[in-house]
Amino acid sequence: RGTLLQDRFGRRIDYLRLSVTDRCDLRCVYCMADDMRFLPHAEVLSLEELYQVAAGFVRLGVNKIRLTGGEPLVRRGILTLIERLGQLPAELVLTTNGTQLPQMAHELASCGVRRLNISLDSLRGDRFRELTRNGSLDRVLAGIEAARSSGFTRVKLNTVVLRGRNEDEVLDLVDFARRASLDISFIEEMPLGQITEHDRGESFCSSDNLRELISSRYPLYPSTERTGGPSRYYRMAGSDTRIGFISPHSHNFCGECNRVRVTVEGRLLLCLGNEHSVDLREIVRRYPGDVGRLERTIMAAMAIKPERHEFKLDAEPQILRFMSMTGG
Ligand code: GTP
Ligand code: 5AD
Ligand code: SF4
Repeated sequence: RGTLLQDRFGRRIDYLRLSVTDRCDLRCVYCMADDMRFLPHAEVLSLEELYQVAAGFVRLGVNKIRLTGGEPLVRRGILTLIERLGQLPAELVLTTNGTQLPQMAHELASCGVRRLNISLDSLRGDRFRELTRNGSLDRVLAGIEAARSSGFTRVKLNTVVLRGRNEDEVLDLVDFARRASLDISFIEEMPLGQITEHDRGESFCSSDNLRELISSRYPLYPSTERTGGPSRYYRMAGSDTRIGFISPHSHNFCGECNRVRVTVEGRLLLCLGNEHSVDLREIVRRYPGDVGRLERTIMAAMAIKPERHEFKLDAEPQILRFMSMTGG
């Protein structure tokens, strides 16, 4: 089944990233301000409205939905939404910080979530606490363990690598992923929102350097495998772990973009690195049940999808929206 969604550059859009809350129980330094204010209730789509939006995209041919946040698992009632989304003819996947997995992993798997991506930037408790502004590493490790034993097809770790903060743990993280048979993606930090903890230009770590570093311990073989996102994978001998690199700065991947986002305010955001958007909340609230209008609005929005991001690391961030508004 093909998608009806295509932009003016001929890119076919079959992947929706749906943010179900702007809230999070952690405060990762690259993702949020520490005095972050959250959206008032009236601005936030209800679970029913989120479902209507997702179902609209699936009718138009989207075959993959990734739930994001903030932290998607802190949204009250999220499992009831996940259960309904699990019945749509699309792959349902989720990106999480892992803190809620000890009690939720099993049920997520039985609701039809196929793959999980879990953020993990450090294996050292004190450092993890600093990077997340007071998160518990033990809890996330317990969450990863719960995910491993709950029958997902695949579990991937996500590490945002920052020079001077966690780049010295890259090999330890690779070893951790190997021992646990998990995939792991290393991510170049993107400049969304104004942060004060570090200078994004100075903390930049290029994927090529990391690839070289990892190759010195484990020769890496490029793999053609793809998971539908920007990660480019490598394999190692004697391990089923895939090492991914997400390189918005060093290897632009926008030419192959297949995705759009919807924020929890119902803003259809056509590119992570631009503000072009269309208000779907107004459509689902003003014309409830008018699925034709919703579908036409989504289709028309594809015309304003920008060609690519223009992220710059040596300037003030152009995008003031924090990553926590879109889940990446
Ligand atoms: P899968 O390929 O399905 O495993 O997902 P993913 O790795 O693309 O998704 P995830 O939510 O785990 O995000 C990992 C990183 O990729 C985050 O830093 C996202 O911001 C980044 N990312 C995902 N999609 C895009 C995109 O379209 N553009 C940019 N610039 N970054 C993206
Ligand atoms: N740059 C790159 N990745 C980020 N993430 C959060 N903020 C940023 C940023 N500024 C990552 C999280 C999570 C994924 C959804 O996005 O660590 O793994
Ligand atoms: Fe697509 Fe924009 Fe991400 Fe590039 S930055 S891959 S165009 S969403």
